[in-house]
Amino acid sequence: MTHHVEVAAATAPAAAPAFPIPSNCFAQTVTEVTHYTDRLFKFRITRPASFRFRSGEFVMIGLPNAERPVFRAYSIASPSWDEEVEFFSIKVPNGPLTEHLQKIKVGDTVLMRKKPTGTLVNDALIPGKRLYMFSTGTGIAPFASLIRDPETYEKFEQVILTHTCREVAELKYGEELVEACKSDPLIGEFAAEKLIHYTSVTREPFPRTGRITDLMTSGKLFEDLGVPPINAEEDRGMICGSMAMLNDTKAVLEQFGLEEGSNARPATFVVERAFVD
Ligand code: A2P
Repeated sequence: MTHHVEVAAATAPAAAPAFPIPSNCFAQTVTEVTHYTDRLFKFRITRPASFRFRSGEFVMIGLPNAERPVFRAYSIASPSWDEEVEFFSIKVPNGPLTEHLQKIKVGDTVLMRKKPTGTLVNDALIPGKRLYMFSTGTGIAPFASLIRDPETYEKFEQVILTHTCREVAELKYGEELVEACKSDPLIGEFAAEKLIHYTSVTREPFPRTGRITDLMTSGKLFEDLGVPPINAEEDRGMICGSMAMLNDTKAVLEQFGLEEGSNARPATFVVERAFVD
């Protein structure tokens, strides 16, 4: 599949916003926009020098197109060492934010609130052997950050990123990401040794089909990986997807004996809601 990539020229001027910038926001310049399908796109913005976050966190994003702009939570897809900030977004028809956001171009201004937060962070899990990252659709975004963070590989022997999408073309962002990880000078060696990318598709033919919940309960996931079924001794989980996916995946992990944790009370799995409208 070919997709359209637009990259900033070094001299691209930032378009002047028509409305005042709220004081709790950074106004940043778009440096790259990549459309993968008619439902999914990635964009990157400049990073303010003072913006700090933990890999896996999310932040509120908006556009300077109104006196009171619409904001939505977006997982930060870039790692904490990156000099830009990356996001992976759905395009919702008539979505209050995404109907405008999907039209952004290099040089445009995006608003980002100053305070990131979230529970899909290494600190919210107690130590373990394997880390499972369960994602559907744009739910892969926080994991795009975490699999580019060396700390993830320091804490776990194996990192298993599962990504399930409706269509094959929707897997492209994750495929490119994992490939880039494995040849990256900073984390390439760890990723090549420890990172497993496990994909499935639900609405088109593909070598592996089915929801991740079904692949777990049937045991196919563990057979394919050559590992024991999920157990609280060895395994840790992070979940990101639609509300229905979060609830169902959480229930499966609980059946395997895992327990939900948080920043305040680390345990064996954590959950984040990732969808926007
Ligand atoms: P399906 O095609 O069977 O609905 P969405 O774009 O709706 O968020 O879906 C992304 C992927 O997540 C699709 O492959 C979809 O499968 C799957 N999915 C949707 N709901 C659930 C759920 N409750 N549990 C597990 N996977 C789900």
